[in-house]
Amino acid sequence: MPRLSTRILSISIGAALLTCSGAGLSIAQGTPPTPDAAAPADETAGTALTGVYTEAQAEEIRALYTRSCVTCHGATLNGTALAPPLAGFAFTQYWESRTLLELFQFTQENMPADRPGTMTPAQTAGIIALILKSNNYPAGETELPTDEAALGAIIFGPPPPAAP
Ligand code: HEC
Repeated sequence: MPRLSTRILSISIGAALLTCSGAGLSIAQGTPPTPDAAAPADETAGTALTGVYTEAQAEEIRALYTRSCVTCHGATLNGTALAPPLAGFAFTQYWESRTLLELFQFTQENMPADRPGTMTPAQTAGIIALILKSNNYPAGETELPTDEAALGAIIFGPPPPAAP
């Protein structure tokens, strides 16, 4: 499984980068931010932060998740010894700059690992909705589509912090 070992490597590189940017931050502390840099404007455009799935879509797929995924990925999508987490820092750090299409296609083709290819595209879209919800991305008014062009136009973006 080369994909998994690449991931582990990218997590440790990510940790190293965090350490570096932490140092950079303290050096830059004397410079006040310009007003422009402080305004987020449409930083969320094209990301999953704009509400790209519905609450019902994420909740309706939970039964399938419990049936087909939970033994490997865990009840809170936190991962087990058998499979990586689908929620939390390691997951979002890897996915935040990638498109929903990439995760959709991987899941559609490879999961559930013991019966790949058994989910319909609509079920896979529901799973992506549940994954988004579990990582605190906000729900919206429109269901996440199965259309590849639409999914390819959305990146995850940095996840919002967990509700207190
Ligand atoms: C038999 C164990 C098993 C089951 C059941 C299973 N998975 Fe997985 N899953 C894995 C393993 C192992 C990986 C890591 C594969 C890799 O990286 O090549 C994985 C990876 C994934 C990933 C990619 C995670 C990432 O960050 O790249 C997703 C998404 C996923 N599974 C979703 C599901 C869903 C949804 C189901 C249920 C429909 C499911 N899996 C059922 C074992 C399982």
